[in-house]
Amino acid sequence: MTADTAELCRALAERISESGSLTDPAWRAAVEAVRRDVFLGGDVYRINGAMWEPVHRAEVGEEEWLRLAYSDTTWVTQVDGVDAADASGALAGNPTSSSTLPSLVVRTLEVAGIRDGDRVLEVGTGTGYSTAILCHRLGGENVTSVEYDAGLAQSAAEHLRAVNCSPTLVTGDGLNGYDEGADYDAIVATCAVRHIPGSWLWQVRDGGTITTTLSGWMTASGLIRLTLGDEGVATGRFTGDTISYMLARPHERPPRPMLVRRAGEVRASRVDPGLFDNWAGRFVAQLAAPSAEFVTTDDNVILVDVATGSQAWTEPAGTGWTVHQSGTLHLWDQVEEALMTWQAAGSPDQTAFGMTVTEDVQTVWLGAPDGPGWRLPL
Ligand SMILES: C[S@@+](CC[C@H](N)C(=O)[O-])C[C@H]1O[C@@H](n2cnc3c(N)ncnc32)[C@H](O)[C@@H]1O
Repeated sequence: MTADTAELCRALAERISESGSLTDPAWRAAVEAVRRDVFLGGDVYRINGAMWEPVHRAEVGEEEWLRLAYSDTTWVTQVDGVDAADASGALAGNPTSSSTLPSLVVRTLEVAGIRDGDRVLEVGTGTGYSTAILCHRLGGENVTSVEYDAGLAQSAAEHLRAVNCSPTLVTGDGLNGYDEGADYDAIVATCAVRHIPGSWLWQVRDGGTITTTLSGWMTASGLIRLTLGDEGVATGRFTGDTISYMLARPHERPPRPMLVRRAGEVRASRVDPGLFDNWAGRFVAQLAAPSAEFVTTDDNVILVDVATGSQAWTEPAGTGWTVHQSGTLHLWDQVEEALMTWQAAGSPDQTAFGMTVTEDVQTVWLGAPDGPGWRLPL
């Protein structure tokens, strides 16, 4: 590390500490020691309107590149499977890998409650930056990281070698965990899941933890740490952080045909569709209709069930809203009932929610495990 990059690492750690995301001196030491520019390689994407524009180190120059690398920003490195290094021009699409903003990486690790000497399985190696942070604290012999995309896994391995980290790196589906390294003290996912994979329950030791974001096809998200208790039951409460990670690839929604709003049963809505703009509100809606995706157009909300094609869409009507529902599922009925349950509890933030996970049943509950609950699709 040169004096310049050492100073950039220190300044980044200082900024993250000031933001409140970094409180543990051991993680601070890791941020100060790991060069992020190594993990970005030479190419990232920057959003410009609806397009992802490649930014190449060779074109922007060293000073600007280091400014980008040491900003507390997520840098997308792959869009729909196309690495930034291979992009000849701007493209439309969805990010499929990124270097997560460092404050979110350390916040996730702090939530996980990892201690010196722990054996950790990370799911979603990406660039390898978070893997290096883990290695700095725990030693490579205690870190296993799984990446789905073979090309990304290879680049991450090169980045990690360049900073003298030697974790166990696995290319494959992290939703299967990595049995050979089990039992782990902690499993940490830097991609989101729609439900907790059974393998994670089997591969974490009794009393060990699983830290992940629970997300879905309405893009609502909640960060949670689950602790594995007696008889294979994991429980925990959501932290309330308003953060998200990209969904694990096997949990992504399938592509859908072009959206056409269909006529259906019409009635007045009993809830404001604007509740989808509330972090916890959209989370509740997603729990109630877990296979539906959410689209907005101006002041309309459209829900489309990916499995059945059922639809619900709202439109303003006088001082309220009308909802149109079609298909076998009454999506708005489901969502409305859940939102009204949440409102009756005082519209709390996500810290009021928790989760109980067994091999067969996973439930997100409001208030207490025996309170109102929603089962996740497995
Ligand atoms: C937000 S990025 C990870 C950021 C990374 N930890 C870093 O610090 O650069 C999410 C990563 O998860 C990977 N991923 C998605 N689904 C996965 C799966 N089922 N198993 C393993 N990795 C997965 C993606 O390919 C992507 O590289």
